[in-house]
Amino acid sequence: MSQHLITLLDHSRDEIEGYLDLSHAIKKEYKTQGANDALKGRTAAMIFEKPSLRTRVTFEAGMVQLGGAAINLDPGQISLGKRESVRDAAYSLSRWVDAIVARTFSHTLVTELARHASVPVINALTDLHHPCQALALGQTLQEHRGKLAGLRLAFVGDGNNVANSIAELAGHTGMHFVLACPKGYEQSAEVVKGLQALFTKNGGSYTVTNDAGAGVRGADMIYTDVWVSMGEEAQAEEKSRHFKPFQVNAELLAKAPAECLVSHCLPAHVGEEITQDVMDSARCVCFDEAENRLHAQKAVLLKLVKPGRR
Ligand code: CP
Ligand code: NVA
Repeated sequence: MSQHLITLLDHSRDEIEGYLDLSHAIKKEYKTQGANDALKGRTAAMIFEKPSLRTRVTFEAGMVQLGGAAINLDPGQISLGKRESVRDAAYSLSRWVDAIVARTFSHTLVTELARHASVPVINALTDLHHPCQALALGQTLQEHRGKLAGLRLAFVGDGNNVANSIAELAGHTGMHFVLACPKGYEQSAEVVKGLQALFTKNGGSYTVTNDAGAGVRGADMIYTDVWVSMGEEAQAEEKSRHFKPFQVNAELLAKAPAECLVSHCLPAHVGEEITQDVMDSARCVCFDEAENRLHAQKAVLLKLVKPGRR
C-alpha cells in the first residue's frame, strides 16, 4: 500500500475499496456514537496554496473528530521551494507531524513532498488530481445505487483534475466513464494511458465524446465541475465560450434516464456549468458528496497515519 495518497492510480482496487468500506463504517459510527480518539495526539500539517472551503474544513474537522488536530500553514509564510527547498520542508515537517495535507497548483510539488516526507502526504487537489473528491463520490454513489461496478458516469465538462480522479475511481471499480467535453479539453494522453490500464484490468469502459447529449445517454450519474479551474482565470472568456453547450440543465437531463443522479464537486458557478433548478432538484446529490468528504478523508487518515508508528 502506498504510504501517501497522491492519485488513485497509485493504489490498488482493494485499497480503494478499503477506503470506501472504512468511510461507510466511520460515517455510521460518527452518526451513532460521535467522535472517537483513534488519532489522539496526532497532528496533520495543512498547506493550501489555493482557496478551499470543503477540503480545509473537512480535514480540520476530521482530525479533531479523531482526537487529533490540524495545523493550517500559511503558504505565503512557508513559501515552499523558495524560503527553503521542498525537501528540507518535508524533512522538517516529518519530524513533527503525522501527516501532510497539501493543495498546490503544481502536481509535481505534491509528488516531491511525498518523495521526501517520511509521513503520509495527502493530495488535497493539484492541477492534475483530486483523489479525495473521487473517494467521496464513490461513497455517495454506493449510498444511492448500492454499487459502483457497471454504473455509467457521464462527466460533462472539462477533462480537469476532478475528471482525472473520478475516471481513476471508475477504472478501479469497473464503472463506465464517459467524458463529454468540447474538442481540445480532453484528458491528457498520459492520464488516458493510466486509465486504459485500469479499465482493461477491472472492466468497465472509457469513452470520450464532444456531444453532451450523446454523453448522458443511459447515464446513472451526470457529473460536472467549473469550466475554469483555480489558476486558469486568464482562459475564462475562451473556455466559457467553448463550454456553453455543455451546461448541465433541464434540457440535457431530459436526454438521460429519469432516475439519473447529478453531482458536482462544488463550488458551483450556477448559471454556467449547472443551472439552479438542477442543483436544487432531488436528483442532485452534491451536498451528500460534500458531506462524505469528511468521512472519506477520515478513512484516508486512519489508513495512512499508523497509530504507534513513531
Ligand atoms: N470540492 C472541493 O475540493 O471544494 P473546496 O475547493 O472548497 O475545498
Ligand atoms: N476543478 C476545480 C475543482 C475545485 C474543487 C478547480 O481546480 O478549481
